Amino acid sequence: MKNICVIGVGYVGLVTAACFADLGNRVVALDISEERIEKLKQGIMPIYEPGLGEMVERNVNAGRLSFTTSYKEGLKDAEFVFICVGTPEGVDGEADLRYVRMAAEEIARTMDHPMILINKSTVPVGTGDWVAEIVRQNQPKPIEFSVVSCPEFLREGSAISDFLNPDRTILGSEDPDAASRVAELHLPLRAPIMVTDLRTAEMIKYASNAFLATRISFINEIANICEALGADVKEVAQGMGYDKRIGHHFLEAGVGYGGSCFPKDVKALAYMAQVQGRHPQLLQAVMDINAYQRRHVVLKLRDILGSLEGKIVGLMGLAFKPNTDDMREAPSITIAELLLDEGAIVRGYDPVAMENAARVMPQVEMVETPYKLAEGADAIIVVTDWNEFKQLDMERIRDSMRQPVLIDGRNIYDPKRMRELGFRYRGVGRGYNGGED
Ligand code: UDX
Ligand code: UDX
Repeated sequence: MKNICVIGVGYVGLVTAACFADLGNRVVALDISEERIEKLKQGIMPIYEPGLGEMVERNVNAGRLSFTTSYKEGLKDAEFVFICVGTPEGVDGEADLRYVRMAAEEIARTMDHPMILINKSTVPVGTGDWVAEIVRQNQPKPIEFSVVSCPEFLREGSAISDFLNPDRTILGSEDPDAASRVAELHLPLRAPIMVTDLRTAEMIKYASNAFLATRISFINEIANICEALGADVKEVAQGMGYDKRIGHHFLEAGVGYGGSCFPKDVKALAYMAQVQGRHPQLLQAVMDINAYQRRHVVLKLRDILGSLEGKIVGLMGLAFKPNTDDMREAPSITIAELLLDEGAIVRGYDPVAMENAARVMPQVEMVETPYKLAEGADAIIVVTDWNEFKQLDMERIRDSMRQPVLIDGRNIYDPKRMRELGFRYRGVGRGYNGGED
C-alpha cells in the first residue's frame, strides 16, 4: 500500500484516483472546485463514465479513497502526487498551462516532506523541467522532490478498463530512483514499462495522439475519394485492416474526431513545431481534413434538400463519442452551427450528454427520445455512434418524418436496408453502397 495524492478530479484524475485505490493504495483526491468535491463526498460523480461511480463508492467505503480541497490534507502523507489538472487549448493552439502552474505552486508551498510529482496531464515537451523549476522557486525551504512524466492513454467511455489494462506504461524521468519507485506502483497493471527521459515521454503522448488522429483523417480522405470513385470505405478499411502492419483500429470514417485530446494535441504539436521553425505539413492536413468532415455532412444534406431555410433537422447523438457526456470539441457543435447559419431549425438528442449540450448549443431544441427527434423532421443526421441508435424502429422513424432523409455520419446503418425502407440515405464514403440514393 502506498500513499497517493491525485490533483484534479476530471476524467483522468478521478479514474486514476479510483483505480489506484482499487489496487489497494490509500488515495486522497484533491480538486480546487468545492462543488465537485462536495458532490463526490455525497457519491455524485462530476462526469459520466461507465463503472466509475461503483468503483469510487467501493473504495470510499473501504477507507482507501477520500476527497478534499485542501493541499495540506492531500499532501500530508503522500509519497506520490499525480498532477491531473486540465491543460486546455490556449491562444494559437498553444497549450494553456496555468492550471499546472497553480498546482505546482501550491504543492511547493505546502509540501513538508520529500515526494515524487508525477505529471499525467498532456503537456508540451519541456513542461516537466518547468514544473521542477516552479516547485524549486516556490518552496519556502528546500525539500527534495522529483518530477516524473507518466502520460495517460485512457479513452473516455472505457476509461477504467483502459487504465487497468494499458498497452504500456511510459515513465519519463532524469532520476532513476524515482522512476523505479513509480514503476513499482504500476507493476500490478502488468504492462510493459518503458523508462525514458522527461521530454521523450512527453513527446510519446503527443506523437501517439497525433498518429491516431492521422489514421482517422487518412481514412476520411479515403472515404471522400471512395465517394467519388464508387467504392465503399467500410469494406476498404476492413480489407486494409487484415494486414497486420495496418490493423483494424481507428479506421472508421465519419464526421471526424473531437474530444478533449485529439483536436488540442494535434494543434499543440503543430504549434510546438512551428515555434521551432519547422513546417508540420502532415499535421496541418490532418486538421484540415477533420474540419472538412464536419462541413461535409451539411453539404450532403444541402445536396438532397436544397435550401436548408426553415428545414427541421435532428442531430442524433451530441457527445463527441459514445459512452460519455463530454461535449468538448464535439463535431455536433460545428454541425449545429452550420445548420443554424443556413436557417435550419435544429433539434438534438443524446442518451447522456443533453444537459451539457444544452449549455453549449442553446439554440438547439433538446428532445427526450430519437423518435421525438424524427417527428415532422426533414432530415436526421447521425453524429455519434451510440449503440442504442443501431436497433431503432426505423419504420416508425420514417413514418413520423416529414421527409425520410438520413445522413449517417458514422456509418452505423446498412445502406441497402435503409434504402429498402424508403430512406434517402447517405453514409460517409459508402460509394456503391450508399453514395447515391
Ligand atoms: C485531462 C488531462 O489533464 C489533459 O491534459 C488531457 O489532455 C485531457 O484529459 P481532464 O481530466 O479531462 O484532462 O480535465 P478536466 O475534466 O478538465 O478536469 C480537470 C480537473 O482539475 C477539474 O476538476 C478542475 O477543477 C481541477 N483543477 C483545475 C484543480 O484541481 N486545480 C487547478 O488548479 C485546476
Ligand atoms: C483519445 C486517445 O484514444 C487516448 O489514448 C487519449 O488518452 C485521449 O484521447 P478519447 O478522446 O477519449 O481518447 O477517445 P477516442 O476513442 O480516441 O476517440 C476520439 C475521437 O475520434 C472521437 O470523436 C471518435 O469519434 C473519433 N474516432 C475514433 C473516429 O472518428 N474514427 C475512429 O476510427 C476512431
